[in-house]
Amino acid sequence: MLASYLAISKLLVLFLACCGLTSASVLSGPWDAFSYATDSRTVRPTSVFKTEGSVLNAIGLISPAGEATLQSNGSWVVLDFEKEVGGLISMDISPSSNASAFSLSFTESSMFISPFTSDDSSASSANESYDGVLRVPAPLPNGFWTQPADRLRGGFRFLTIVSNDDAPITISNVSCFLSFSPHVQNLSDYSGYFSAKDPFFHDEDFLTKIWYAGAYTVQTNVIAVNEGRDPFVQSPGWENNATIGIEGPVIVDGAKRDRDIWPGDMGIAVPTQFVSTNDLLPSRNSLAYIISLTDPTTGALPFCGPPLCDINGTKSDTYHAWTLIGVYNYYLYTGDIDWLQGIWTNYTKALQFLENKAQPSGLINITDTADWARSDRGGVDSEGNALYYQKNIEALASAWSANATALKTAFNKAFWSDERGMYTDNATTTFVPQDANALAVVFNLTTLEQAKSISLGLTKNWNEFGAVAPEAPDTIAPFIGGFELQAHFISGNDARALDLLHREWGYMLYTNLSVQSTLLEGYTANGSLGYRSAIGYNYDSSYTSHAHGWSTGPTSALTFYVLGLQVTSPRGATWALSPHFSGLNAAEGGFTTPLGWFGVSWEVKDNAIISMVVSTPVGTQGTVTIPGIETGLQVDGGTTQHGWPVSVSGGSHTITVLN
Ligand SMILES: *[C@@H]1O[C@H](CO)[C@@H](O)[C@H](O)[C@H]1NC(C)=O
Ligand SMILES: *[C@@H]1O[C@H](CO)[C@@H](O)[C@H](O)[C@H]1NC(C)=O
Ligand SMILES: *[C@@H]1O[C@H](CO)[C@@H](O)[C@H](O)[C@H]1NC(C)=O
Ligand SMILES: *[C@@H]1O[C@H](CO)[C@@H](O)[C@H](O)[C@H]1NC(C)=O
Ligand SMILES: *[C@@H]1O[C@H](CO)[C@@H](O)[C@H](O)[C@H]1NC(C)=O
Ligand SMILES: *[C@@H]1O[C@H](CO)[C@@H](O)[C@H](O)[C@H]1NC(C)=O
Ligand SMILES: *[C@@H]1O[C@H](CO)[C@@H](O)[C@H](O)[C@H]1NC(C)=O
Ligand SMILES: *[C@@H]1O[C@H](CO)[C@@H](O)[C@H](O)[C@H]1NC(C)=O
Ligand SMILES: *[C@@H]1O[C@H](CO)[C@@H](O)[C@H](O)[C@H]1NC(C)=O
Ligand SMILES: *[C@@H]1O[C@H](CO)[C@@H](O)[C@H](O)[C@H]1NC(C)=O
Ligand SMILES: *[C@@H]1O[C@H](CO)[C@@H](O)[C@H](O)[C@H]1NC(C)=O
Ligand SMILES: *[C@@H]1O[C@H](CO)[C@@H](O)[C@H](O)[C@H]1NC(C)=O
Repeated sequence: MLASYLAISKLLVLFLACCGLTSASVLSGPWDAFSYATDSRTVRPTSVFKTEGSVLNAIGLISPAGEATLQSNGSWVVLDFEKEVGGLISMDISPSSNASAFSLSFTESSMFISPFTSDDSSASSANESYDGVLRVPAPLPNGFWTQPADRLRGGFRFLTIVSNDDAPITISNVSCFLSFSPHVQNLSDYSGYFSAKDPFFHDEDFLTKIWYAGAYTVQTNVIAVNEGRDPFVQSPGWENNATIGIEGPVIVDGAKRDRDIWPGDMGIAVPTQFVSTNDLLPSRNSLAYIISLTDPTTGALPFCGPPLCDINGTKSDTYHAWTLIGVYNYYLYTGDIDWLQGIWTNYTKALQFLENKAQPSGLINITDTADWARSDRGGVDSEGNALYYQKNIEALASAWSANATALKTAFNKAFWSDERGMYTDNATTTFVPQDANALAVVFNLTTLEQAKSISLGLTKNWNEFGAVAPEAPDTIAPFIGGFELQAHFISGNDARALDLLHREWGYMLYTNLSVQSTLLEGYTANGSLGYRSAIGYNYDSSYTSHAHGWSTGPTSALTFYVLGLQVTSPRGATWALSPHFSGLNAAEGGFTTPLGWFGVSWEVKDNAIISMVVSTPVGTQGTVTIPGIETGLQVDGGTTQHGWPVSVSGGSHTITVLN
């Protein structure tokens, strides 16, 4: 609730600064080797994981020209794409008889390789066999074959091909046509990058790899609007031909599952998208669909998009708030004022919905705003409207900020526990959760002292696999972990942030239970895949998603905090540079907005002199703050400037910090 007030007040302030148009492309370098994205949509398996029964020349399936023969009923071969992929399988088939038949099964984790079933996506079931296989019955075509479009498999790493007859079947030219991010010409053409060596971990390229893992995860979560999952399919089977929005592409929660629009997930996935591909159209389409479903009477927004969520079904105040925050982020990154004007009536209606739930003393009446926005929706000319907006919004922005400030005080009065040094779950408990504490720091509800205290307090939940959420027993939730990670950086505990990265995201990236490329939805306190076993997932570990955008917090955190570059007004017309050196020797990277390239490269020499090159579009304005360092800095070799922040204008500058 409070978060959405803060978001809206910030959103209104953003209206006051705006926009221009250009684009830029990203520098290539050694970091490109760590990207999981491919230039071509046609990808082939890169190794044979296993064979059973009588399979002749399985290895032939790895080369484009080779072939293999399944010689008897029940013989099977497991092909490994060695990372998450998703789409439609094609192959050339040469059946020896009209009785030849085969089936395909799919899984993200190697734990669920089976000739009898895929990992589950349609529904969770204790038998871990809800989805079953894709049967391709006799008589088979002779020649090129492609999986039926409705049976698309959204996310998998292992493909198992099983013969269902004793008549041999020869196959060749097995490939997958990637279906994700369908509007993107070249999936590996990013608009941002990040690179740093990590001397504190077993893999010095970990930070760079995890940045790319997050970026690729979100790419796999962008799908065509008519390739969502049908949640009502009977076992065995799955269907990925549901329409889940108005316009596509849309961003969904996961590649395999749910393949549905979930606003909370976007709180992490959209910043990832911004710093890596700057492909924000899917975010806009997903937000637009949720907003189009505003309850006309109450202003309520759905928990998630149909068909998974019923508009008249479960309502979630937090997910409602996430949609509002999603709009804030989308506007901050794009400056897309035309779209914002179009949804403004519903946006304010949705805010009203939350306000109606507030205590009488905290109520905000925005009836006038709704009238004002509605009166602006008729077209008219854009310049006149922009001026009209600015005049009205200036007044409103300060009113909302004032209310947000009042709420900040009320929040601290109600929930801060001096004894625990953290926020309690509510005013009548001493229980301190991970989510509220991490979010309170991220949304600036704390003083620096409180933030430091929360950062320390949160470490009490850690084990070797990550941060166990006290409010979700036996669960490590990388979604909330992504906010906790930011909280450690914000509170100045950079080493602690790296420690959490190593434990939680290091575990996900390297464990052989995972796809070792995209990021898990969640897992248990001992690292098993039995996420939410007892609360909703029916002890079906195969149902867990291995490519969930909400787990990609490190991607934006590395850019925004370690590199230290953030935009503070739409498209980065103003920006802030505040690097967290974190004990690293160097880092470089950046992102693109419609204004152009925003890049930084910094180096710490002999643990003392820090040199940075910052490059931002001419015409922009920035501030530089070096956390934890008292001495001043020199811009382009000029006079030493003391006191933070130091103002720097757009263009390319060399900054030297004398520590
Ligand atoms: C399949 O049946 C058709 C028609 O009955 C026959 O012409 C063809 O040769 C058969 N193919 C194989 C591979 O046995
Ligand atoms: C697994 O359980 C589901 C119900 O959850 C059932 O429909 C399905 O037939 C079962 N599959 C197997 C292979 O037993
Ligand atoms: C293939 O093997 C399966 C499992 O043993 C069996 O159910 C099926 O009838 C066999 N198919 C043929 C055509 O022999
Ligand atoms: C091999 O598969 C590709 C698609 O992956 C297809 O375009 C091509 O035509 C196939 N080659 C043959 C010889 O069928
Ligand atoms: C795709 O983008 C990458 C990165 O910019 C570039 O190296 C590659 O040449 C592009 N591929 C094609 C086919 O355009
Ligand atoms: C999805 O495909 C199946 C199989 O063709 C079909 O029965 C079903 O009606 C399709 N669903 C939608 C929403 O198009
Ligand atoms: C706003 O919500 C109403 C339903 O309450 C819907 O009919 C309308 O299309 C929505 N407007 C936008 C721009 O999504
Ligand atoms: C939701 O409820 C309203 C009012 O009862 C009804 O008109 C509408 O059809 C319902 N929508 C769905 C998707 O069930
Ligand atoms: C701020 O809150 C007060 C009451 O607490 C309310 O009267 C006022 O309308 C609110 N301002 C806005 C912009 O919502
Ligand atoms: C909200 O504002 C409207 C119009 O200004 C007014 O009619 C209404 O009584 C106000 N509601 C509250 C709860 O203050
Ligand atoms: C307050 O929080 C505790 C711990 O989460 C919970 O058990 C209790 O039900 C909550 N009380 C209220 C009134 O929500
Ligand atoms: C956090 O809030 C305080 C006021 O409580 C404000 O002075 C400060 O600028 C805010 N910090 C950020 C980063 O917005």
